[in-house]
Order: sequence, then structure tokens, then C-alpha cells
Amino acid sequence: MNSIDLFQNPLRRWGKHKDGKQRPTVLVKELQERDRRRMVKHFLELESSDRLLRFGTMLPDERVEKYVNSIDFSRDMVFGVYNRLFKLVAVGHLAFAPRDESKSAVTEKERVAEFGVSVSKSARGMGVGSKLFERAAIHCRNSDVDTLYMHCLSSNKTMMHIAKKAGMEIHRDYGEADAYLKLTPANPASVLQEALDEQFATLDYTLKANKRFATKWLGRLTGRK
Ligand SMILES: CC(C)(COP(=O)(O)OP(=O)(O)OC[C@H]1O[C@@H](n2cnc3c(N)ncnc32)[C@H](O)[C@@H]1OP(=O)(O)O)[C@@H](O)C(=O)NCCC(=O)NCCS
Repeated sequence: MNSIDLFQNPLRRWGKHKDGKQRPTVLVKELQERDRRRMVKHFLELESSDRLLRFGTMLPDERVEKYVNSIDFSRDMVFGVYNRLFKLVAVGHLAFAPRDESKSAVTEKERVAEFGVSVSKSARGMGVGSKLFERAAIHCRNSDVDTLYMHCLSSNKTMMHIAKKAGMEIHRDYGEADAYLKLTPANPASVLQEALDEQFATLDYTLKANKRFATKWLGRLTGRK
């Protein structure tokens, strides 16, 4: 499959990146209980080196499943990107936790957030990782959280690039990097932006899900697999 076809859909909006190349608009959707199975599939399909970068350790398959099944959707936020074949090609987990008192100089808010992200190989280099990060940051702002952390290996050049591009403060230590971003408070524009992003993504998700269902149904009807 040609990767540029990945996000083709009726809502397609094209924008020019600073490098002059056109990139498809990436629609980021909030994931829920019903997406768990697809999330597991996404993580298990990552190459082992990418799984290491995502989790910071070589998690075996059972631990990956356990991790996904333990995500508390009522506390955390999980974002995903579906391609035009209704395959989940990216997952960003925004986990909220009470502020660590030893780091009270960093924030006065009660909660902080930590972000972890992965994008399938076929969907990389099109702005998906950056868009997930942006969406996580805007959600933090709108949830009265002003500090967004990310933990990754310092050898992770792509993630370091995204972190720097976002203006994150990065501390490197023994091959690992802790990065954090201070966020401005919510305003009507940030609330509207998140609501619109989710509306577009929900519409897109519904269209793709229906198309997938219809294709399967027709396939069964005509005896094709
Ligand atoms: C890191 C990851 C999420 C990035 O996803 P992505 O969708 O390819 O990211 P984007 O397309 O938004 O951005 C990639 C940026 O990194 C740049 N980049 C790519 N490879 C790079 C490298 N080796 N060195 C520096 N920058 C690099 C790209 O040019 C692009 O920059 P630009 O947007 O300014 O042009 C993806 O590679 C991944 O899933 N990796 C495995 C898991 C992981 O590392 N997770 C992060 C730890 S939580």
C-alpha cells in the first residue's frame, strides 16, 4: 500500500508543511474501551526496537496486553489515529498522576501528565507523532494541567526532535531523557480547537467503520473472504 494513501477520506484536508511537502491532515480520535483489542494489535506489531523505545524496556507480549488492559479510561486519555482501512496506526497515552511533592517547584497544580506515543512504521514521517503530541498538550491545558512529561531514551532522535520542536525542557541522564513542557492555561480557543478536532475525528471514524463493515458484509455476500 502506498503510504500517502493512508489517510484518504472525504474529510481530507491538505496542508503544506514547512519543508514544502504536502502532508495529509491527521485526525486524532479519543480511544475507548472498544479500541483495546486494536491497541494491543498495534503494540504487538511494533518492531522489537520500537517496542523498546516506546516502553523503555523489552516488554514481552503478555505484559503489553496487561498494560493495555490496565489502562483506566476514566482517569487517563488515550488518543489514536486510524488509517483509511480502519487500522489503528498510532496510539498516544496521556496518563495523569498526582503531582510529585519533590517536584513541587515545577507546578502548583494537583496533577501532572505523562505522555507515551507510538506510530506504526507505515504511517511515520507524516506528522502523526507530532499531531498526537499536540493533541495531548491541548487536552492537558483544557484539563487544568500545566506540566506535560515525557520519558524516553536519549538515543531516540525522532522523539528528541519532536520534544525540542514543542519547546520541551530536556534533562539527559545515563542514556535516558526526561522532558517536560510547561503549558499555558486553557482559553476559549483551546477548548474550541479540541472540541472541533474530536468532532472531525469522530465523523471520520464513523465513515471508516461503516465502510469497513460494508466491505466485509459485501465480501461475505459475494463469497469473498
Ligand atoms: C517517535 C515516533 C512516535 C514519531 O512518529 P512520526 O509520526 O514519524 O513523527 P512525525 O512525522 O510527527 O515527526 C517526525 C519528525 O522527526 C524528524 N525525524 C525523523 N527521523 C529523525 C532523526 N533520525 N533525527 C532527527 N529528526 C528526525 C522528522 O523530520 C520529523 O520532523 P518535522 O516534523 O520537523 O519535519 C515514531 O517514530 C515511533 O513510534 N517510534 C517508536 C516508539 C517511540 O520511540 N516512542 C516515543 C517514546 S514514548
